[in-house]
Amino acid sequence: PKQQTLAVIKPDATDEQRVKILEEIYGRGFSVTQLKETVLSREMAEEFYKEHREKPFFSQLVEFMCRGPCMMLVLTKENAVEEWRAMMGPTDPDKAKETSPQSLRARFAADILHNSVHGSSDEQHAEEKISFIFGDISTDAELANN
Ligand code: CMP
Repeated sequence: PKQQTLAVIKPDATDEQRVKILEEIYGRGFSVTQLKETVLSREMAEEFYKEHREKPFFSQLVEFMCRGPCMMLVLTKENAVEEWRAMMGPTDPDKAKETSPQSLRARFAADILHNSVHGSSDEQHAEEKISFIFGDISTDAELANN
């Protein structure tokens, strides 16, 4: 069965990198079923990353995510959550360079904070964050049509 995940291209990604990332997303056979590019408000960024509220890097993370446009994509494919996570590679680009040098973070990320891309960690998070970013119009109808 098809699955959905939320992918975010973060503000540190250059326009050239955005194009490459999109090419790879389509090249791997994902359907992009929703898409928008927007600058998050501080409130949106805080809510989006609420699970990290207690982390020492939280304020830096929110600051960073608001500093420029984020491209938000709903990716639909079988096993989309895991496949997109594999494409991204580990959170820390130093680790990514060791374990998955072809991954997006290995190639594009500057450091563990400025790491180019985000992806939902599981199906439940995907559903929650997709509703948060795009509203409740997605899920069932999208899956039936793709
Ligand atoms: P992401 O996968 O979007 O999930 C949470 C984000 O917090 C992560 O990518 C990084 O941008 C950031 N992050 C995670 N760990 C650290 C850390 N140790 N120091 C700074 N930023 C971090």
